[in-house]
Amino acid sequence: MIYLDNAATTFPKPECVYVAMDKFLREKGANPGRAGHRMSVEAEQEIEKARITVAKFLGIKNPERMIFTFNATDALNMGIKGLLCEGDHVVTSKLEHNSVLRPLYSLENSGVITVTRVGNSDDGFISADDIKNAIRSNTKLIVCTHASNVLGTIQPISEIGEVARERDVIFMVDAAQTMGVSRINVEEYNIDMLAFTGHKGPFGSPGSGGLYVGERVELRAWREGGTGFGSESLSQPDTLPYKFESGTPNSVGIIGLKTGLEFCIKEGIDNIRRHERKLVLRLISALETDDRFEIYGDLVSGRAVGIVSINIEGIKPSEVGAILDNSFNVAVRAGMHCAPHIHRKIGTFPEGMVRISPGYFNTMEEIEETISGLKKIADSSS
Ligand code: ALA
Repeated sequence: MIYLDNAATTFPKPECVYVAMDKFLREKGANPGRAGHRMSVEAEQEIEKARITVAKFLGIKNPERMIFTFNATDALNMGIKGLLCEGDHVVTSKLEHNSVLRPLYSLENSGVITVTRVGNSDDGFISADDIKNAIRSNTKLIVCTHASNVLGTIQPISEIGEVARERDVIFMVDAAQTMGVSRINVEEYNIDMLAFTGHKGPFGSPGSGGLYVGERVELRAWREGGTGFGSESLSQPDTLPYKFESGTPNSVGIIGLKTGLEFCIKEGIDNIRRHERKLVLRLISALETDDRFEIYGDLVSGRAVGIVSINIEGIKPSEVGAILDNSFNVAVRAGMHCAPHIHRKIGTFPEGMVRISPGYFNTMEEIEETISGLKKIADSSS
Protein backbone atom coordinates (compact mmCIF):
# COMPACT_ATOMS: atom_id res chain seq x y z
CA MET A 1 0.00 0.00 0.00
CA ILE A 2 1.08 3.57 -0.66
CA TYR A 3 0.34 5.16 2.69
CA LEU A 4 -0.36 8.89 2.33
CA ASP A 5 -2.32 9.49 5.53
CA ASN A 6 0.54 10.59 7.75
CA ALA A 7 -1.40 13.61 9.02
CA ALA A 8 -3.75 11.14 10.72
CA THR A 9 -0.94 8.99 12.05
CA THR A 10 2.52 8.30 10.73
CA PHE A 11 3.06 4.87 9.21
CA PRO A 12 5.26 2.94 9.22
CA LYS A 13 7.23 3.79 12.34
CA PRO A 14 11.01 3.68 12.30
CA GLU A 15 12.27 0.17 13.10
CA CYS A 16 13.87 1.44 16.32
CA VAL A 17 10.40 2.33 17.68
CA TYR A 18 9.05 -1.19 17.15
CA VAL A 19 12.18 -2.67 18.73
CA ALA A 20 12.21 -0.35 21.75
CA MET A 21 8.51 -0.85 22.51
CA ASP A 22 8.76 -4.62 22.19
CA LYS A 23 11.86 -4.75 24.39
CA PHE A 24 10.37 -2.47 27.03
CA LEU A 25 7.15 -4.44 27.29
CA ARG A 26 9.05 -7.72 27.56
CA GLU A 27 11.74 -6.57 29.96
CA LYS A 28 10.39 -3.63 31.94
CA GLY A 29 6.64 -4.02 31.67
CA ALA A 30 5.91 -3.55 35.40
CA ASN A 31 3.62 -0.79 36.64
CA PRO A 32 5.92 2.26 36.88
CA GLY A 33 6.31 3.80 40.31
CA ARG A 34 3.48 1.77 41.80
CA ALA A 35 5.70 -0.65 43.74
CA GLY A 36 9.16 -0.72 45.21
CA HIS A 37 10.42 -3.69 43.22
CA ARG A 38 13.21 -3.28 40.73
CA MET A 39 11.23 -3.66 37.55
CA SER A 40 8.73 -1.04 38.67
CA VAL A 41 11.54 1.36 39.57
CA GLU A 42 13.26 0.73 36.23
CA ALA A 43 10.05 1.34 34.32
CA GLU A 44 9.61 4.65 36.12
CA GLN A 45 13.20 5.62 35.38
CA GLU A 46 12.59 5.02 31.67
CA ILE A 47 9.55 7.29 31.80
CA GLU A 48 11.54 10.02 33.50
CA LYS A 49 14.22 9.75 30.81
CA ALA A 50 11.49 10.14 28.20
CA ARG A 51 10.16 13.20 30.04
CA ILE A 52 13.59 14.80 29.90
CA THR A 53 13.97 14.02 26.17
CA VAL A 54 10.61 15.59 25.32
CA ALA A 55 11.19 18.59 27.59
CA LYS A 56 14.56 19.26 26.00
CA PHE A 57 13.11 19.00 22.51
CA LEU A 58 10.48 21.64 23.33
CA GLY A 59 12.74 23.98 25.28
CA ILE A 60 10.93 23.23 28.55
CA LYS A 61 13.20 24.23 31.43
CA ASN A 62 11.58 22.13 34.12
CA PRO A 63 10.75 18.59 32.87
CA GLU A 64 8.22 18.16 35.68
CA ARG A 65 6.01 20.55 33.73
CA MET A 66 5.87 18.04 30.84
CA ILE A 67 2.82 15.90 31.56
CA PHE A 68 2.34 12.64 29.68
CA THR A 69 -1.17 12.28 28.27
CA PHE A 70 -2.88 9.73 26.04
CA ASN A 71 -3.03 11.94 22.93
CA ALA A 72 -3.42 15.61 21.94
CA THR A 73 -7.18 15.58 22.59
CA ASP A 74 -6.55 14.38 26.13
CA ALA A 75 -3.97 17.14 26.62
CA LEU A 76 -6.25 19.83 25.17
CA ASN A 77 -9.15 18.76 27.39
CA MET A 78 -6.84 18.70 30.39
CA GLY A 79 -5.63 22.23 29.68
CA ILE A 80 -8.92 23.80 28.61
CA LYS A 81 -11.16 22.24 31.27
CA GLY A 82 -8.56 22.51 34.00
CA LEU A 83 -8.04 26.23 33.41
CA LEU A 84 -11.33 27.89 32.54
CA CYS A 85 -13.78 29.19 35.13
CA GLU A 86 -17.21 30.76 35.00
CA GLY A 87 -17.17 34.12 33.22
CA ASP A 88 -13.95 33.54 31.28
CA HIS A 89 -13.61 34.52 27.63
CA VAL A 90 -11.56 32.52 25.12
CA VAL A 91 -10.14 33.50 21.75
CA THR A 92 -9.66 30.69 19.27
CA SER A 93 -9.73 30.27 15.50
CA LYS A 94 -11.91 28.74 12.84
CA LEU A 95 -9.04 26.53 11.74
CA GLU A 96 -9.31 24.37 14.83
CA HIS A 97 -9.85 20.65 15.06
CA ASN A 98 -12.81 19.37 17.08
CA SER A 99 -10.36 18.55 19.88
CA VAL A 100 -10.34 22.30 20.57
CA LEU A 101 -13.75 23.26 19.20
CA ARG A 102 -15.78 20.72 21.15
CA PRO A 103 -14.41 21.23 24.69
CA LEU A 104 -14.83 24.99 24.18
CA TYR A 105 -18.32 24.61 22.76
CA SER A 106 -19.49 22.40 25.62
CA LEU A 107 -18.35 25.02 28.18
CA GLU A 108 -19.86 27.81 26.08
CA ASN A 109 -23.12 25.96 25.56
CA SER A 110 -23.54 25.36 29.28
CA GLY A 111 -23.06 29.09 29.93
CA VAL A 112 -19.68 28.83 31.66
CA ILE A 113 -17.53 30.73 29.15
CA THR A 114 -17.82 32.91 26.05
CA VAL A 115 -15.78 32.25 22.92
CA THR A 116 -14.60 34.33 19.96
CA ARG A 117 -13.54 32.38 16.89
CA VAL A 118 -11.38 34.44 14.56
CA GLY A 119 -11.41 33.69 10.85
CA ASN A 120 -8.54 32.94 8.52
CA SER A 121 -7.31 34.02 5.10
CA ASP A 122 -8.39 32.04 2.03
CA ASP A 123 -5.02 30.34 1.94
CA GLY A 124 -5.37 29.17 5.54
CA PHE A 125 -3.63 31.57 7.91
CA ILE A 126 -4.90 33.33 11.02
CA SER A 127 -3.48 36.72 11.94
CA ALA A 128 -2.03 37.81 15.27
CA ASP A 129 -3.81 41.16 14.81
CA ASP A 130 -7.21 39.48 14.56
CA ILE A 131 -6.42 37.57 17.74
CA LYS A 132 -5.31 40.78 19.44
CA ASN A 133 -8.49 42.62 18.42
CA ALA A 134 -10.63 39.83 19.85
CA ILE A 135 -9.12 40.06 23.36
CA ARG A 136 -11.46 41.42 26.04
CA SER A 137 -10.92 42.34 29.67
CA ASN A 138 -12.07 38.85 30.75
CA THR A 139 -10.08 36.89 28.15
CA LYS A 140 -8.33 34.11 30.00
CA LEU A 141 -7.09 31.96 27.14
CA ILE A 142 -5.97 32.09 23.53
CA VAL A 143 -5.91 28.60 22.05
CA CYS A 144 -4.96 27.82 18.48
CA THR A 145 -3.48 25.18 16.30
CA HIS A 146 0.14 25.37 15.22
CA ALA A 147 -0.69 23.88 11.83
CA SER A 148 -4.08 23.19 10.29
CA ASN A 149 -4.78 19.47 10.00
CA VAL A 150 -6.81 20.22 6.86
CA LEU A 151 -4.50 22.56 4.94
CA GLY A 152 -1.20 22.05 6.71
CA THR A 153 -0.67 25.81 7.02
CA ILE A 154 1.63 26.83 9.88
CA GLN A 155 0.27 29.65 12.02
CA PRO A 156 2.24 32.62 13.36
CA ILE A 157 2.42 31.28 16.90
CA SER A 158 5.41 33.34 17.89
CA GLU A 159 3.53 36.58 17.05
CA ILE A 160 0.40 35.31 18.80
CA GLY A 161 2.53 34.36 21.80
CA GLU A 162 3.81 37.93 21.99
CA VAL A 163 0.28 39.29 21.91
CA ALA A 164 -0.79 36.88 24.64
CA ARG A 165 2.11 37.82 26.89
CA GLU A 166 1.59 41.58 26.33
CA ARG A 167 -2.06 41.24 27.29
CA ASP A 168 -1.42 38.78 30.13
CA VAL A 169 -3.53 36.03 28.58
CA ILE A 170 -2.67 32.32 28.78
CA PHE A 171 -1.55 30.98 25.39
CA MET A 172 -2.20 27.35 24.49
CA VAL A 173 -0.98 25.72 21.28
CA ASP A 174 -2.28 22.55 19.67
CA ALA A 175 0.87 21.05 18.17
CA ALA A 176 -0.76 17.80 16.99
CA GLN A 177 0.40 18.37 13.39
CA THR A 178 3.79 19.95 14.07
CA MET A 179 5.45 18.10 16.93
CA GLY A 180 8.47 16.31 15.48
CA VAL A 181 8.43 18.18 12.15
CA SER A 182 8.58 21.84 13.18
CA ARG A 183 10.80 23.64 15.60
CA ILE A 184 8.93 24.56 18.80
CA ASN A 185 10.38 26.36 21.79
CA VAL A 186 7.85 27.12 24.49
CA GLU A 187 10.00 29.81 26.11
CA GLU A 188 10.84 31.61 22.89
CA TYR A 189 7.25 31.53 21.60
CA ASN A 190 5.69 32.53 24.96
CA ILE A 191 3.63 29.35 25.03
CA ASP A 192 1.95 28.61 28.37
CA MET A 193 0.41 25.28 27.42
CA LEU A 194 1.39 23.02 24.55
CA ALA A 195 -0.59 19.90 23.61
CA PHE A 196 0.81 17.24 21.29
CA THR A 197 0.39 13.66 20.29
CA GLY A 198 3.06 10.99 20.03
CA HIS A 199 1.69 9.01 17.09
CA LYS A 200 2.08 11.62 14.35
CA GLY A 201 5.34 13.57 13.84
CA PRO A 202 7.25 11.91 16.71
CA PHE A 203 6.64 8.43 15.19
CA GLY A 204 5.34 6.99 18.48
CA SER A 205 2.33 4.75 18.94
CA PRO A 206 -1.29 5.78 19.38
CA GLY A 207 -2.13 6.42 23.04
CA SER A 208 0.84 8.67 23.76
CA GLY A 209 1.08 12.43 23.97
CA GLY A 210 1.82 15.30 26.26
CA LEU A 211 0.88 18.64 27.75
CA TYR A 212 3.35 21.30 28.76
CA VAL A 213 2.01 23.37 31.66
CA GLY A 214 3.93 26.61 32.08
CA GLU A 215 4.57 28.48 35.31
CA ARG A 216 1.87 31.10 34.63
CA VAL A 217 -0.82 28.43 34.52
CA GLU A 218 -2.93 27.37 37.50
CA LEU A 219 -4.57 24.17 36.41
CA ARG A 220 -7.12 21.98 38.16
CA ALA A 221 -6.62 18.24 37.67
CA TRP A 222 -9.61 17.07 35.65
CA ARG A 223 -8.57 13.43 35.97
CA GLU A 224 -7.94 12.36 39.57
CA GLY A 225 -6.88 9.04 41.09
CA GLY A 226 -3.90 6.93 42.02
CA THR A 227 -0.43 8.40 41.65
CA GLY A 228 1.58 5.72 43.43
CA PHE A 229 2.38 7.83 46.49
CA GLY A 230 0.52 9.69 49.29
CA SER A 231 -2.17 7.01 49.11
CA GLU A 232 -3.48 7.82 52.60
CA SER A 233 -4.83 11.17 51.41
CA LEU A 234 -8.15 11.57 49.64
CA SER A 235 -6.91 14.73 47.94
CA GLN A 236 -5.16 14.73 44.61
CA PRO A 237 -1.48 15.62 45.21
CA ASP A 238 -0.31 19.03 44.01
CA THR A 239 3.11 17.77 42.92
CA LEU A 240 3.94 17.98 39.24
CA PRO A 241 3.79 15.98 37.04
CA TYR A 242 1.79 13.52 39.15
CA LYS A 243 -1.11 15.92 39.79
CA PHE A 244 -2.08 15.38 36.14
CA GLU A 245 -0.92 11.82 35.58
CA SER A 246 -3.30 9.71 37.64
CA GLY A 247 -3.79 6.11 36.61
CA THR A 248 -1.37 3.64 35.09
CA PRO A 249 0.47 5.46 32.30
CA ASN A 250 0.93 4.14 28.79
CA SER A 251 4.52 3.30 29.63
CA VAL A 252 5.20 1.38 26.43
CA GLY A 253 3.68 4.23 24.41
CA ILE A 254 5.90 6.73 26.22
CA ILE A 255 8.96 4.63 25.32
CA GLY A 256 7.80 4.61 21.69
CA LEU A 257 7.35 8.39 21.78
CA LYS A 258 10.82 8.91 23.21
CA THR A 259 12.46 6.56 20.71
CA GLY A 260 10.58 8.11 17.78
CA LEU A 261 11.49 11.61 18.86
CA GLU A 262 15.13 10.58 19.15
CA PHE A 263 14.86 9.27 15.59
CA CYS A 264 13.51 12.70 14.46
CA ILE A 265 16.38 14.44 16.21
CA LYS A 266 18.93 12.09 14.67
CA GLU A 267 17.52 12.43 11.15
CA GLY A 268 17.04 16.17 11.65
CA ILE A 269 13.58 17.76 11.68
CA ASP A 270 14.65 20.06 8.85
CA ASN A 271 15.54 17.04 6.72
CA ILE A 272 12.20 15.42 7.52
CA ARG A 273 10.35 18.63 6.57
CA ARG A 274 12.44 19.04 3.42
CA HIS A 275 11.67 15.51 2.25
CA GLU A 276 7.94 15.91 2.86
CA ARG A 277 7.99 19.33 1.17
CA LYS A 278 9.64 17.87 -1.92
CA LEU A 279 6.85 15.29 -2.24
CA VAL A 280 4.18 17.93 -1.60
CA LEU A 281 5.64 20.25 -4.24
CA ARG A 282 5.64 17.45 -6.80
CA LEU A 283 1.96 16.75 -6.10
CA ILE A 284 1.12 20.44 -6.37
CA SER A 285 3.04 20.96 -9.60
CA ALA A 286 1.38 17.93 -11.20
CA LEU A 287 -2.14 18.93 -10.24
CA GLU A 288 -2.22 22.74 -10.30
CA THR A 289 -2.02 23.00 -14.07
CA ASP A 290 -4.93 20.60 -14.54
CA ASP A 291 -8.29 22.41 -14.31
CA ARG A 292 -10.07 19.33 -13.05
CA PHE A 293 -8.24 19.58 -9.73
CA GLU A 294 -8.86 22.15 -7.05
CA ILE A 295 -6.00 22.49 -4.57
CA TYR A 296 -6.67 24.23 -1.26
CA GLY A 297 -4.49 26.27 1.05
CA ASP A 298 -1.06 27.78 0.69
CA LEU A 299 0.71 26.69 -2.49
CA VAL A 300 3.56 29.13 -2.57
CA SER A 301 4.96 30.33 0.76
CA GLY A 302 6.11 26.97 2.06
CA ARG A 303 4.71 27.77 5.51
CA ALA A 304 3.04 24.38 5.73
CA VAL A 305 3.55 20.83 6.92
CA GLY A 306 3.23 17.88 4.52
CA ILE A 307 -0.40 18.11 3.45
CA VAL A 308 -1.98 18.61 0.03
CA SER A 309 -5.78 18.88 0.11
CA ILE A 310 -7.65 18.60 -3.15
CA ASN A 311 -10.93 17.89 -4.86
CA ILE A 312 -11.59 16.46 -8.31
CA GLU A 313 -14.31 18.14 -10.31
CA GLY A 314 -17.52 16.13 -10.39
CA ILE A 315 -16.56 13.43 -7.88
CA LYS A 316 -17.26 13.35 -4.17
CA PRO A 317 -14.11 13.30 -2.04
CA SER A 318 -15.29 10.15 -0.25
CA GLU A 319 -15.55 8.44 -3.63
CA VAL A 320 -12.05 9.58 -4.65
CA GLY A 321 -10.71 8.23 -1.35
CA ALA A 322 -12.44 4.89 -1.88
CA ILE A 323 -11.23 4.54 -5.50
CA LEU A 324 -7.67 5.43 -4.50
CA ASP A 325 -7.82 2.76 -1.82
CA ASN A 326 -9.56 0.02 -3.77
CA SER A 327 -8.20 0.52 -7.28
CA PHE A 328 -4.81 2.15 -6.75
CA ASN A 329 -3.80 0.89 -3.32
CA VAL A 330 -3.31 4.45 -2.03
CA ALA A 331 -4.42 5.44 1.49
CA VAL A 332 -5.55 9.06 2.02
CA ARG A 333 -8.14 10.70 4.26
CA ALA A 334 -11.23 12.13 2.60
CA GLY A 335 -14.02 14.08 4.32
CA MET A 336 -14.04 16.84 6.91
CA HIS A 337 -11.07 15.80 9.03
CA CYS A 338 -12.92 16.71 12.26
CA ALA A 339 -12.54 20.43 11.46
CA PRO A 340 -15.93 21.76 10.29
CA HIS A 341 -15.36 25.55 10.35
CA ILE A 342 -12.51 25.54 7.87
CA HIS A 343 -14.58 23.52 5.40
CA ARG A 344 -17.41 26.04 5.71
CA LYS A 345 -14.96 28.85 5.04
CA ILE A 346 -13.48 27.15 1.97
CA GLY A 347 -16.87 26.04 0.67
CA THR A 348 -16.22 22.31 0.97
CA PHE A 349 -18.77 21.68 3.74
CA PRO A 350 -20.18 19.04 4.22
CA GLU A 351 -18.46 16.74 1.71
CA GLY A 352 -14.96 17.94 2.57
CA MET A 353 -11.89 17.23 0.50
CA VAL A 354 -9.24 14.61 -0.16
CA ARG A 355 -6.23 15.07 2.10
CA ILE A 356 -2.97 13.59 0.85
CA SER A 357 -0.28 13.63 3.51
CA PRO A 358 3.11 12.19 2.57
CA GLY A 359 5.55 11.27 5.28
CA TYR A 360 9.25 10.74 5.75
CA PHE A 361 9.12 7.16 4.46
CA ASN A 362 7.29 7.92 1.22
CA THR A 363 9.22 7.95 -2.04
CA MET A 364 8.92 10.07 -5.18
CA GLU A 365 7.92 6.91 -7.08
CA GLU A 366 4.92 6.51 -4.77
CA ILE A 367 3.94 10.12 -5.41
CA GLU A 368 4.18 9.57 -9.20
CA GLU A 369 1.93 6.51 -8.89
CA THR A 370 -0.55 8.51 -6.84
CA ILE A 371 -0.57 11.34 -9.40
CA SER A 372 -1.20 8.84 -12.15
CA GLY A 373 -4.08 7.30 -10.13
CA LEU A 374 -5.61 10.72 -9.48
CA LYS A 375 -5.44 11.63 -13.18
CA LYS A 376 -7.11 8.35 -14.14
CA ILE A 377 -9.90 9.03 -11.64
CA ALA A 378 -10.34 12.52 -13.14
CA ASP A 379 -10.36 11.02 -16.67
CA SER A 380 -13.08 8.55 -15.71
CA SER A 381 -15.35 11.32 -14.47
CA SER A 382 -14.95 13.76 -17.37
N1 ALA B 1 -6.59 14.50 13.78
C1 ALA B 1 -6.24 13.48 12.87
C2 ALA B 1 -6.44 13.89 11.44
O1 ALA B 1 -6.35 15.06 11.14
C3 ALA B 1 -6.80 12.16 13.19
O2 ALA B 1 -6.65 13.05 10.60
